[in-house]
Order: sequence, then C-alpha cells, then structure tokens
Amino acid sequence: MIDDLPVGLVARHLAEDDHLRVLAVLDAWWGGLKGGAGSVERALLLPRLYFQHFATTGFLVERDGGEIAAFLVGFLSQTEPETAYVHFVGVDPALHGQGVGRLLYRAFFALARSHGRRHVHCVTSPENTASRAFHTRLGFTASAVKPDYDGPGLDRVAFTIDLSADPAATPWLR
Ligand SMILES: CC(C)(COP(=O)(O)OP(=O)(O)OC[C@H]1O[C@@H](n2cnc3c(N)ncnc32)[C@H](O)[C@@H]1OP(=O)(O)O)[C@@H](O)C(=O)NCCC(=O)NCCS
Repeated sequence: MIDDLPVGLVARHLAEDDHLRVLAVLDAWWGGLKGGAGSVERALLLPRLYFQHFATTGFLVERDGGEIAAFLVGFLSQTEPETAYVHFVGVDPALHGQGVGRLLYRAFFALARSHGRRHVHCVTSPENTASRAFHTRLGFTASAVKPDYDGPGLDRVAFTIDLSADPAATPWLR
C-alpha cells in the first residue's frame, strides 16, 4: 500500500480498533506539547468517528510485531469537490527523519488525486514548529497565524498545496 517504507514497517488503512491505540501514543509523540491543555485538545481532535467513517482515506503504519509506528487521518472534503484534508498525522519519534511522514503524505496525495482532488489542506498549532517545518519542506504554502481559528485561544497556521502545480516544485511527489 505504501512502497519504500523502512524495513520492518507495513501500512494499511485505518480500522475502528485502531482508535484507542492511536490515542495512547499522542502525548508521547507530540512531546507533551502545550501541557495538559494540549493533551486534552489532541484527544478531542480524534474522536472514534474518524476511525469509523474515514477509515479508507487514512493510513496506519505498524512494525512487524504490530506496534503502531505512524498514522495519518485524512478525508475527502464533502463540500469542496477538488479538496482533500489531512486532519492528523504522527510518526513515532524513534522513526523521525526517515521519510515516513513524507511517504504517508505521498500516499494520501495519490489517493486524493485518484478521487479527482487537486488541493490538500491542513492546519497546525503555531507552537508546533516541527509540523510547520515539515509541511513547508513538503511544499505546502503556510498562512499567517490565524487567531482563534478553531475556537477561543485555538490559533492555527493553515497549509495548502496544489497537486497540479509545477512538478519541479515537488519532485518527491511523482
Ligand atoms: C511532523 C512529523 C509528522 C514529521 O515526520 P517525519 O517522518 O519525521 O518526517 P520526514 O522524515 O518524512 O521528513 C520530511 C521532510 O521534512 C523535514 N522535517 C521533518 N521534521 C522536521 C523538523 N522537526 N524540523 C525541520 N524539518 C523537518 C525533513 O528534514 C524532511 O526534509 P528533507 O528530507 O527533504 O530534507 C513528525 O515529526 C511528528 O509526528 N511530529 C509529532 C506530531 C505532529 O506534530 N504532527 C503534525 C501536526 S498534526
């Protein structure tokens, strides 16, 4: 399903049983970003419904032994027929910098394209400098910080990428 993953890792689509397993890794993988409030915010951003109704547009990467190694929760926009959206992505810190995040996005972009989607959007917290650097490196365009974007005190940076743009700008996508 996802070629070129590091040896010992295998990918599949999400399943409902993955929900609690993914919740269990969030705080460690996000490094406790934004403390207790961040922990609550992350858990509330991933209710079970994503693993029930958006399973076939998301991915889970596991080690040979079944341990969770990475995930991507995304979906095809219901309201914008040319848009797909990455809601949440995480990679085990032990695997950072090995291209796993990029491979998850490449797989999601291929899926989005196969459904006629041209744009991919996502948002991240301004404090999440790793996420901002990662998305910029992948070729996303970042907005300015949008105050209260997701509610009072929940500022966000919005990212967008045009999948039909000049291939020279995103050679890793082809
Ligand atoms: C952001 C995250 C998904 C990146 O995953 P990853 O597998 O380490 O990323 P990759 O190895 O595929 O990196 C892809 C590119 O982004 C760059 N990049 C990744 N993390 C970076 C960081 N912290 N700072 C600067 N650049 C970074 C890499 O250098 C690489 O660029 P290059 O190879 O072209 O030089 C991972 O750090 C993570 O899970 N963080 C915690 C959860 C999170 O913040 N998720 C995003 C918000 S929902």
